[in-house]
Formats: sequence, C-alpha cells, structure tokens
Amino acid sequence: MHPETIAIRTQTERTSEKEHSTPLFLTSSFVYDSAEDMAAAFSDETLDVNIYSRFSNPSVDEFIKKVCLLEGAEDGIATGTGMAAVFSTFMTFLSAGDHIVSASAVFGSTHAILTKYLPKWGIDFSYFDMNKPETIEVLIRSNTKMLYVETPSNPGLDIIDLEYVAALCKKHHILFVVDNCFATPAVQQPLKFGADIVLHSATKFIDGQGRVLGGVVVGNKELVKQMYLFVRNTGPSLSPFNAWVLSKSLETLYVRMDKHAENAIYIAKSLEGHPALSAVKYPFLSSHPQFEIAKKQMKNGGGVLTFEIKAGLEGGRKFLNSLKWLSMTNNLGDSRTIASHPASTTHSKLSEEERVSVGITPGLIRLSVGLEHPEDILADILQALG
Ligand SMILES: Cc1ncc(COP(=O)(O)O)c(C=O)c1O
Repeated sequence: MHPETIAIRTQTERTSEKEHSTPLFLTSSFVYDSAEDMAAAFSDETLDVNIYSRFSNPSVDEFIKKVCLLEGAEDGIATGTGMAAVFSTFMTFLSAGDHIVSASAVFGSTHAILTKYLPKWGIDFSYFDMNKPETIEVLIRSNTKMLYVETPSNPGLDIIDLEYVAALCKKHHILFVVDNCFATPAVQQPLKFGADIVLHSATKFIDGQGRVLGGVVVGNKELVKQMYLFVRNTGPSLSPFNAWVLSKSLETLYVRMDKHAENAIYIAKSLEGHPALSAVKYPFLSSHPQFEIAKKQMKNGGGVLTFEIKAGLEGGRKFLNSLKWLSMTNNLGDSRTIASHPASTTHSKLSEEERVSVGITPGLIRLSVGLEHPEDILADILQALG
C-alpha cells in the first residue's frame, strides 16, 4: 500500500461497538481477569498486555505504529513533547564520559540541553557547521557515541547530506540521530538514507493544527527497547488523548504537506528580489546553498521559509507589527501561516555572535506557511514589507 493509504487505514482493532473512526482509550490503567494474569503481566516482560498508560496504551500504540510505517522503522516510542523525545534519546544512549557531535544549528532548547545540562552529567559535546560537513570527522573521538542533526534546521533551513553523514557514523560506529520535525515522513525518510534514530516534535506538522504537544522516536527494535525502558521508568509518556489527536492528524499529513510546500514555494519565489529583503531561503529554491542535496533527499521543500529584512532587528519587529492577520507566534507547522522573528524571541538568549553563527541574522523572519490561499498570505506579507 502507498503511505497515504497507510496513514489513513492503520487503526486500532475495531471494538464490539463497531466504530468507524478510531476509538480513544482514555484510561490510566487496565484490568485483568485474574490475579494470575495480573502477576504474569508484571513478571513476564514478553507478554503483549497493557498495564498502565505510562507504559503503553492502545491510542498511543496506534500513533507509534503509523509513524513507524511511514518512516520505515521497526519500532518506536512516543513522548509528551518533542523535547522529551530529544532528551530521552540523549539520556538513553549517552553516559558520563561520552561525547556527542552535533550540528550547531539546532532548536534553542536542544542547544540548551547540549550546552547546559549534558556537561553537568559529564557528557561533552562538539558543534559543527551544517554548511561544512567536511569538518565533522576531525571532531569524532574514541568516546563519541552520537551524531545529531536537524535537516532542514530550525530556523536557518540548513540541509545536510544524510547519506554522507550516515557513512561517517557507520565508519566510526556512532549512532546517527535525525530530528525530522521540519520535513515529516511525508517529505523525507532519514532511515532510508542510513540514520539509526529519527525523532519528531509531533507538535508541529504532524499535529498540523496547533492543538497538542507530542513527540515520537523511531528506529530498530533493539534501540527502541532501551528507550522504552527509559520512558516507562522516568515518565515522559505521551497522553492517550494527544496520541488520538495526532493519529487522526496523520490521516491528512500527505495532502497537508503537499499543500504547505506548494504555498511555500509560491511565496518564496514571489518574494525573491523584493527591494526590502536581502535574502529569501527555501530548500527548493535553486538559490539555496544545498538545493541539490534537498532535491536528492526531500520530496518537496516543506512548509517553512525564511527571509532577511534589510532593516535588521528593528525592521524585523516593525514587519511583525505591520502584519494584518498572519499569526505572530513561536509555533510552526499549523494550518495558519505564522511569522516569527527568532532574534528577538526563540533565540534571544543566545549571544549575537552565537545567533549569527547559526544563520540567525537580526532581520531574519521565519515563515511557517499555512494552508490559506497563497495569494492572501502573500498580500499580507507584501503590505507589511511596504
Ligand atoms: C526542530 C525542533 N525540534 C524539537 C522541538 C521541540 O518540540 P516541542 O515543542 O514539541 O517540545 C522543536 C520545537 O519547536 C523544533 O522546532
């Protein structure tokens, strides 16, 4: 079957109520027919039974199963947020004395974990520039256990060749972890290019309507089993209600991502050369520095673009204040178009030097292009630029 069909037709087994749409299992625990069954559920880890929704839940399992099928993964684990997915991955596979090599262009909270928390527990990190993949190998040490990237990155939209990085990781026996939040499996499947683990903030395009928080991590069975035990014991589990919302959202992921990308490239092309802008960046614009790599590993350019206002920090603020109806919020991946100004918001805690090193210039605007009519979106942007 095609992924579009799988995303719609993968569903928890129909109950005796004969429901058509998938049911929601809003329960914290599960019952047993006998004391012996209950004892077995706890003593025999190989039994496939639900015990408690921190461990497993049918609505959560349905969501995980769908993401695994769409990413081409053997198994997965869901978490309450994207950051819980990132943190649980680090905590499961890194120990005191280990080293992680990461792209410097990563989401602000991931940067905080790498720089503020991991060192507290004796885990060292090195950053590389997404635009200089040839500099990665010299950073790898005997204690390097993981290599971490976002591609496209947030918010700079840098792209890295997944096959190239995967080959390096194989050569040095390092886990290759990819945050696939900006692309989603509808646009890019990193496991097919050699990644070991793929994670998501499901809060973004997977939900697609700005309603719930969630995260998911997928990979091979052996790796996921280790993560399952971490999540089961420490508790960053996904709520059944959010899993149900996210599973329903996956039914429309493919049509939504196609439309997000169609709108985004229309806006990006229309803004190129605008006199108030010094740059427009979108993975499927031929001017993108990694356009050829983007075409190789992505089905389309996704739903996010950036542009650089010549008038800098003040110009960025003024642009946001001049928008008539585009949303001013820090989320992304919504049906509503969202404009944000990373330098004064999500990345304001970084120094100016740190921001510029990951492509966040003072006048950078990140646009998460929604599903409204593209001419309406463009009209609001143009009047605000004016
Ligand atoms: C690329 C990326 N990874 C992870 C996260 C964290 O996700 P959450 O907000 O669901 O914790 C975000 C949030 O914006 C993100 O953009």
